[in-house]
Amino acid sequence: MSVRDIRLLGDPVLRTVADPVATFDRELRRLVDDLADTMREAGGVGLAAPQLGVSLRVFTYLDDSDEVGHLINPVLGPFSEDMMDGEEGCLSLPGLAFELRRPERVLAVGQNAHGDPVTVEGSGILSRCLQHETDHLDGILFIDRLDKETKRAAMKAIREAEWANEPKPTVKVSPHPLFGRGR
Ligand code: NI
Repeated sequence: MSVRDIRLLGDPVLRTVADPVATFDRELRRLVDDLADTMREAGGVGLAAPQLGVSLRVFTYLDDSDEVGHLINPVLGPFSEDMMDGEEGCLSLPGLAFELRRPERVLAVGQNAHGDPVTVEGSGILSRCLQHETDHLDGILFIDRLDKETKRAAMKAIREAEWANEPKPTVKVSPHPLFGRGR
């Protein structure tokens, strides 16, 4: 088991567009395991690789039977026209949750850690999770999608959050052949 530190809002890796995964090797499977372990430990329903400081298009999620799934190089769509309301949070903004309207269902296609094609159909919480985690891979955070009024409240809560005043790490260059984007 390998639980790693979760990067917080303000870390530039969370604002970086992650690179597609091209090599499906043991290192990648270790990354998926670390994501799964860290997500479980933190009590989250999803965790994207940039949140561990790895700028690659990989995330883990909790499915409808509470099993951990993972998706690599995900592409979303189509989205349902039906929308759902609900609160959303993020492990990179600990302790905060805000109302965010999202499409109620979405289809995600991508690959598993062996490079095989996979399709995940999400509704409700899983749909929200697939959208939230895929956004992470594009450097987008859920607070970016809040309506104007909620966003104002969110920015105030963030300024008052204890973790917001911690020093911000910089992206480090790693000698690692696969994760050489700072980890
Ligand atoms: Ni998140």
